[in-house]
Amino acid sequence: MTFTVAIDGPAAAGKGTIGRALAAEFGFAHLDTGLLYRAVGVLTMNRARGVIDPVSAEMIATRLTEEDLKRDDLRTAVASRAASRVAALSAVRAALLDFQRRFARRPGGAVLDGRDIGTVICPEAEVKLFVTASEEVRARRRYEELLHSRPETRLDAVLNDLRIRDARDAGRQDAPLSQAEDAVLLDTTEMSIDDAVDKARALVRAKLG
Ligand code: C5P
Repeated sequence: MTFTVAIDGPAAAGKGTIGRALAAEFGFAHLDTGLLYRAVGVLTMNRARGVIDPVSAEMIATRLTEEDLKRDDLRTAVASRAASRVAALSAVRAALLDFQRRFARRPGGAVLDGRDIGTVICPEAEVKLFVTASEEVRARRRYEELLHSRPETRLDAVLNDLRIRDARDAGRQDAPLSQAEDAVLLDTTEMSIDDAVDKARALVRAKLG
């Protein structure tokens, strides 16, 4: 059985939490596609002391392995920025396409979260969700997450980073962040993540029949 759930939306909207919950409930494999871009961004920067060279980024994307996705430095603010910069390179996106499409159609079902899953990677996904929330709510969520490992984190800096990243992700030419026409909108500004998970579960259940 193949069954794909595509979850897209801006940074820190709750996509990952919803994706993991659906995977656990229905036994689907889960891929956080942001990790692919984060790993390419970090590896590209490490290669040239903080500089992002497009040719290196493409080569690194072509050779990316599942091991690279397990690095422990992919969740930092520096990695977020690097990810969004390499994600604007068409050659990098093209190099990561097949892996994501194969993952989406693996037997047993898959849930992928990212920015272009319902629009570009899996336009045929059985369920498409677009998860969003106000900038302030998303920034606060990310700030609280980051505080655990970095007590010096500042909310205004997180909000600023998030705005820059969203603008770059939505404004790029190739596969910009956008809601697929047939995606169901889940706005988690006022809704708890638990309620959003319940709604997502109900949608998948209805489709599975
Ligand atoms: O989801 P996450 O915040 O980890 O994504 C990091 C960056 O990777 C995003 O800001 C975006 O630039 C890029 N990305 C993307 N397409 C995806 C997933 C992530 O361009 N499907």
